[in-house]
Amino acid sequence: MSSRSDHVAAARAQRQLPRPTPDAPPDFRAWIRAGALAASSHNTQPWRVRIDPEIPAILIQPDDDRRCPRVDPNDAHLFKSLGCMAENIRIAAGVNGFDCEIDVCGDTPDIRLTFHRREGPGELERYRAIAVRQCTRSAYDASPLSSAEREALSAAGRGQGVRTLVLEGAESIESVVRFVERGNVTQLDDAGFRRELTRWIRFNPESALEHADGLSAVVMGQPSLPQWLGRAISGLVLKAGPQNRRDAEHIRSSSALAVLVAERDEVPSWVETGRVVQRLTLTATALDLKHAYINQPIEVPELRAEFARWLGRGAEHPLLMLRIGRAAAAPYSLRRPLEAYLAVPAEG
Ligand SMILES: Cc1cc2nc3c(=O)[nH]c(=O)nc-3n(C[C@H](O)[C@H](O)[C@H](O)COP(=O)(O)O)c2cc1C
Repeated sequence: MSSRSDHVAAARAQRQLPRPTPDAPPDFRAWIRAGALAASSHNTQPWRVRIDPEIPAILIQPDDDRRCPRVDPNDAHLFKSLGCMAENIRIAAGVNGFDCEIDVCGDTPDIRLTFHRREGPGELERYRAIAVRQCTRSAYDASPLSSAEREALSAAGRGQGVRTLVLEGAESIESVVRFVERGNVTQLDDAGFRRELTRWIRFNPESALEHADGLSAVVMGQPSLPQWLGRAISGLVLKAGPQNRRDAEHIRSSSALAVLVAERDEVPSWVETGRVVQRLTLTATALDLKHAYINQPIEVPELRAEFARWLGRGAEHPLLMLRIGRAAAAPYSLRRPLEAYLAVPAEG
């Protein structure tokens, strides 16, 4: 039987990244491992990856077996997750002495990263933050952001056609609490949503280590249960009442909320939003700030337009929301081994 300490040790081992080596040959596998430490919706890690050492390039493609059609029917979260991975790879290549261009191409569509040698150390603070970043789903200490923190987050939260609104103050926070509560009622009343979520919950360390993906009870701060029992009682546990009480407390304990809004609502924009949120959360991590996602008002179609109007961004699309603040670190989530998603190039 695997224990919580096995889970903690495995997650720690997965976060040993190589030292920055700006003059060394490209280490594609190390870049991709750093890429896989990115956030992904439900920790589905919905990627397939190929290396083309001749160009050199890395291709990231969606893994259709890891789609979540109930919460993410148009794959927007899936492509944001791929964008998160691409951004980590760009940063890891940067400290290895390579610039990285990221394009969305083809019918699938794929994300293509191409690399060119260049001078300079790269983004060292963000690189170090890749192994430290985590979603922290506990209550925070409610202290305000400093103006330097606010500016650093807004700057990191900008991309092509994407920007980040930083919300602070009781009035905004209470309005978001109400949106999240309504989102929880819709989502948790939906048996299909609960079934899909339950499929990704790993109710004990053994199951988490076996799958090395999904939402682990160890990470979420929940008691360990046999997998069959967790599944059997999930309908009793996944209820809007307790979830709303927890979310309201957690949102009110945060220093600020960050909403990523984009000019367009389509694949390239979702990938760009993933890149931006990864950069934003790595910057937060480097500032010793924690974060957790609260996407209910964006995921529930009936709420989304109303949420956009409330933000006062009629023409922009809210694509992700996070809370940010100060708290102790939680246990880290697990990742699948490289072999599970890296296609080995044909020989010859
Ligand atoms: C597009 C996207 C949507 C997400 N939505 C949520 C969410 O609604 N609620 C939540 O708690 N976490 C959400 N997450 C966070 C993932 O669950 C988290 O990244 C994953 O479990 C891996 O954990 P880590 O980020 O701590 O490494 C989301 C992440 C991404 C990239």
